[in-house]
This record gives sequence, C-alpha cells and structure tokens, in this order.
Amino acid sequence: MKVLILGSNGRLGSALARRWKALPDVNVVALTRADVDLADPVKAEASLATHEFGSGDVVVNCAAATDVDGCERDREAAARINAESPGRIARLCAARGARLIHIGTDYVFDGALDRPYTEEDDPKPLSHYGLTKLEGDREVLTASPLHCVVRVSWVFGPDKPSFVDAIVKRALTSPEAAAVHDKTSTPSYTEDMAVWLAAFLKLTVPGGVYHLCNSGTCSWRDYGEYALECAKKNGIPVLTTTVAPLKLSDMKAFIAVRPPRTALDTSKFTRVTGVTPRPWQEAVAEYFSTWRP
Ligand SMILES: NC(=O)c1ccc[n+]([C@@H]2O[C@H](COP(=O)([O-])OP(=O)(O)OC[C@H]3O[C@@H](n4cnc5c(N)ncnc54)[C@H](OP(=O)(O)O)[C@@H]3O)[C@@H](O)[C@H]2O)c1
Repeated sequence: MKVLILGSNGRLGSALARRWKALPDVNVVALTRADVDLADPVKAEASLATHEFGSGDVVVNCAAATDVDGCERDREAAARINAESPGRIARLCAARGARLIHIGTDYVFDGALDRPYTEEDDPKPLSHYGLTKLEGDREVLTASPLHCVVRVSWVFGPDKPSFVDAIVKRALTSPEAAAVHDKTSTPSYTEDMAVWLAAFLKLTVPGGVYHLCNSGTCSWRDYGEYALECAKKNGIPVLTTTVAPLKLSDMKAFIAVRPPRTALDTSKFTRVTGVTPRPWQEAVAEYFSTWRP
C-alpha cells in the first residue's frame, strides 16, 4: 500500500512519516510544502496528481494553516489552504479510489459545552481557523464515504516544539511560569497518534468523522504544571514546577477568539477499533523521559 503524507515537515506529519516507514507492506511517500503547496489549490491538486496512487492507497493530510491568529490576518490564504485545497485533494483521491485521512481540529467547536465533544455535536467555530478547517472537513466528507476526518487537539511530540516544550525551556532560565487556567482540552501525543491513526489505513474502518486524542481533560495550566513536574523527575533542571493561573480574557495578544472547553470524546474511535487512548499524563511522562533541551 502506498501512503502519501502531506505536511510531513509538521509536528504530526513528521511523526507519521518517521513511524510508518517501519510498517510492513507500507510504502510511505513524505511530501512537504515544496512538493504540494496548498496555498494554490489548482497547483496543489496538479502536483499531487503527478504521484502514482490509486485504489487501496491512502493520502494523509497533516498540512494546514495552523497559526490561529495568522488565519485571522490572512483569511483568503487560510481558506485556500484549509478548505479549498483539501476539497480538491479529496475529489482527486475519490476519483482514483484512494482514501483521504484529513486531520481536523477541536477549534471547529465553540467550547460552550461542559462535556467532551462527540462527532455528533454541532460545530460552531469562533475563529477563521476553525471556520476554514470546518469547511475543509465538509469538503472532504462530501467527496467520498471512504474518506476520514480525524479531529485532534493540543498536539505535542518530539519532531517540533509546542506548548509543553516552551514552558519547560523557559523554566530552565526563569523561576516564573504562567499559563491559562480557564481553557481546557486534551493533549494528543504524536507518538500515540502514529499508532492509533494507522488503524485508518485499513479500509475496514469506515469513513466519517472521528475524534482522537489522549484521554482526560486539563487546562493549559494543568498541562504545563504536569510537564514541569515530569521534567524535574527526569533530572531536567527546571527552576519551578508551579504555574501561575492566567485568564483567557487576559491574553490580549490573541487576535482570534479561542474556544474555552474543547475536550474531545474518543468513544467512537474506541467502538470502531477496540483501542482506548491512554491518559494524557502517561503520554506527557513518557515524552519527558527522553526530552532534551
Ligand atoms: N498543533 C495543534 O495543537 C493542533 C490542534 C488541533 C488540530 N491540529 C491539526 O493537526 C494537523 C497537524 O498539525 P501540526 O500540529 O502538525 O501543525 P504544524 O506543525 O504547524 O504542521 C502543519 C504543516 O502544514 C504545512 N503547511 C502549512 N502551509 C502549507 C501550504 N501552503 N502548503 C503545504 N503545506 C503547508 C507546514 O509546512 P512547513 O513545515 O513548510 O511550514 C507544516 O508541515 C493540522 O491539520 C492542524 O489543524 C493541530
């Protein structure tokens, strides 16, 4: 089976490309922005079309305009990258009988629910990032019943720094740490995602929307504090393990409105695959057991 990965320089795409190369009977083709530039939808489709793939093969789209504030600043580019190009790619895959696994986001929700979001909950994006990602989800699902949209949240892993790396790095030189306490979701560890997402390579797993992340819910502050504790336990010389609470409304530098509560319910994934994602704390602890600044 051929598996073409778009966005293979990114946090999630790098992990998939690295891990899936070891899968038996899978030929991974790792594609970057230089190979397929989603900012030009017509060219993106044409570039992907130059690759040989067909029935039984899979394209995974990890590429996206992920700078949430950047998407407010350049709405047209966000729409092309997050919605129009995924739509064209989805239709190309459908025409060739290939499955598209398209990575989505918790930011399609408004965060008003006080329980984790299921795939049946109505999306109501608050930002242009969320809106364009939702349009992309819909384009992909309309193109073929074989395609999957897998929504993830708070992605972290070894291939590209994220929030937990930033907070631990900063604590190496500063005893002050602070993070938002009234925004909650669930981290998604890319090493885990690489194992779980492999389930979708089997076409016996039905197409549709899936929510996928580690289990449990936390705030940015909880997440940061736990990362600092894990770092300390592993001999990383952090100057603090205490994270002061900030309010989401105090984050004046944010341009886009962020949804306050977007934990994802992964029970559909468990029902279909028999796999229950492990708690986010286990994943963060494992990550910091080999972390180097
Ligand atoms: N990070 C999170 O916390 C989070 C949360 C929820 C959902 N997600 C979703 O998860 C997926 C993967 O995110 P990630 O964390 O791996 O993000 P990431 O590290 O920012 O990776 C995004 C990738 O998209 C590529 N890209 C951006 N613009 C492009 C363009 N015009 N043409 C082609 N490629 C382009 C980037 O290429 P370059 O390397 O060349 O810049 C990068 O490799 C995305 O769909 C994102 O929406 C992420």
